[in-house]
Amino acid sequence: MLVVALSKGRTVQALVPLLARAGIDASALGASDRSLIREVGGSGAGGTPQTRSGGLRFLMLKPDDVPTYVEHGAADLGVVGRDVLRERESDLLVPLDLGIGRCRMVVAARKGMTADVDMPRVATKYPRTAAAWFASRRVQAEIITLSGSVELAPLVGLADCIVDLVETGETLRQNGLEIVAEIQSVSTVIAVNRAAYKLRRSEIGSLVERLSTAAHGAPPSPG
Ligand code: PRP
Repeated sequence: MLVVALSKGRTVQALVPLLARAGIDASALGASDRSLIREVGGSGAGGTPQTRSGGLRFLMLKPDDVPTYVEHGAADLGVVGRDVLRERESDLLVPLDLGIGRCRMVVAARKGMTADVDMPRVATKYPRTAAAWFASRRVQAEIITLSGSVELAPLVGLADCIVDLVETGETLRQNGLEIVAEIQSVSTVIAVNRAAYKLRRSEIGSLVERLSTAAHGAPPSPG
């Protein structure tokens, strides 16, 4: 049985229909109980043809912890955003972009205010990514690490700007902020432990192929 590290919340909502299109009944993932291990498919009754032999065991995690479980081999693969992988500098293989969870990582500041100040104070949940981006532009930034509601920081004088994700833009709009630069586009990918990729190549390859066909109508392109 393949073990899949999965972030709870939005990713699950987007992933369940994708798994259904891949022929995997993963409705157990959407159940509102507090169990942290959820199994789908497998050899018991209800297993679909492609999962009957193995099935999938999902570990329900906070997004930031998904790379940790996969890197240490507690999970064979993870479903995780490119934002988290980049921030964690994870050494994982990424054979497939699922095309879900699309958003952008941006620099934003209060409307009409320039973020172009000497040594800007930057509030973010992504301290490494933010520091690297400002350093690449030869700007010395003071990074202030927060764990949520980052848009508040410029409103109360804690920061000059933020580095955060934007999906609809509604949170920025409602808080009087605007985008001043785009850092990267973000989406949800399959990230695989390097050893598991070798040892369980056919199982992982088969799952990736099914998910790719469900997401994009075609198997993953080689390489
Ligand atoms: C995320 C992100 C933004 C918001 C963007 O926060 O950090 O705050 O969503 O979405 P929008 O552009 O559609 O408004 P999340 O909801 O995960 O909560 P958090 O602020 O506590 O991290």
